[in-house]
Amino acid sequence: MMMKKGSLLIKNAAELVTCRGFQAKKGKEMSELHIIANGAVVVEEGIIKAVGTTEEILKAYNEENYEVIDATGKAVLPGFVDSHTHLVFGGYRAEEFSWRLRGDDYMSIMERGGGILSSVKSTKEATKEELFESAKKRLDSMLSFGVTTVEAKSGYGLDYETEIKQLEVAKEVNEHHPVDVVSTFLGAHAVPKEYKGKEDTFIDFFIEKVMPEVVERDLAEFCDIFCEKNVFSVEDSRKLLTKAKEMGFKIKLHADEIVQLGGAELAAELGATSADHLLQASDKGIQAMAEAGVITTLLPGTAFSLKEDFARARYMIDHNCAVALATDLNPGSCFTESIPLIFALATLYMGMSTEEAITALTINGAAAVDRADTIGSIDVGKKGDIIILEFPSYKFIPYHVGVSTVEKVVKEGKLVFD
Ligand code: NIG
Ligand code: FE
Repeated sequence: MMMKKGSLLIKNAAELVTCRGFQAKKGKEMSELHIIANGAVVVEEGIIKAVGTTEEILKAYNEENYEVIDATGKAVLPGFVDSHTHLVFGGYRAEEFSWRLRGDDYMSIMERGGGILSSVKSTKEATKEELFESAKKRLDSMLSFGVTTVEAKSGYGLDYETEIKQLEVAKEVNEHHPVDVVSTFLGAHAVPKEYKGKEDTFIDFFIEKVMPEVVERDLAEFCDIFCEKNVFSVEDSRKLLTKAKEMGFKIKLHADEIVQLGGAELAAELGATSADHLLQASDKGIQAMAEAGVITTLLPGTAFSLKEDFARARYMIDHNCAVALATDLNPGSCFTESIPLIFALATLYMGMSTEEAITALTINGAAAVDRADTIGSIDVGKKGDIIILEFPSYKFIPYHVGVSTVEKVVKEGKLVFD
């Protein structure tokens, strides 16, 4: 087990972008970053103790008692939260990417046994050690982009053994890497050949045989499903997620990604923590999610990689949704952990302002993993998860297009990337 906690003082930040708040920000609130000029933060034993101007902080705290980072000329922000990833998987699908470049579409590849099912085969074949090593390496890369918490889904097993194996790896990697990993059970990610037309039986199998063990061993906090035409219907999804809630899971959905199926409406009906993708979400579904407080998690890297139209971020924010942004890192539809790419797409192609995109990757990302009370902003009492940019303003993040502006990352008060 690695020790994650440390104590330090960051001073002279040209901009201390606090993203202040303990819950998701909706609509107009997403533009508020609560910036302190010439700011400073104190972290003790991993937890933020004080936030203010450098003058105020140095009056109240003796810097000789801390490891000090002088952030003169640099912007300081909360660590990013990547709230939707498929971190643990075996094998790659580079060949499939070239088929897609040739014009094959994502769902047709899946229907002929490729796509997710191809990653299922490689994940079944991979040893736990192999899955651990590759996931850890991906986390290193994510950390370098300023990510301090990631959500990680299972879903490349579709059977008892491999689903559990993926979740065990996610738990182990959480214990051996500075980045925090929040686990999600996504057994209902695709339908194996033998269950085609018997999706109901497949769902019963998870409910009866797999999910009780996941709960008992505390292997996942969330339960997710791919609610999509030719995958799992709204009825299948309602059944699985209702049971999941009864068992104590919080819930998420891959909703309205390719076809407008009503996943957004279902997310609102069930009080899901988040509904993700939403490229095709209806106006009514968006309204319902805003009212129910469902975080709308948008994954622009996936729309980009699949050459689909982007989700309607502007419309959602203007209709009072709390939008989060995430990478959707996975071996198929979106093989990227690049936060700079997500910023570029959100700001240049989805009508989001830089401020909204930062909110979407910090406090709203935290809310999408139900951790807005402990991470996602620089507030007293939260984890000291902090990034220091190479530039004096947060405005450089999308402006330095496609390139990481993150110079240092602090995780629970410890400098973990420099
Ligand atoms: O979020 N849409 C379904 N699931 C993943 C893709 C997984 C894969 O292609 O391996 C997604 O895009
Ligand atoms: Fe996904």
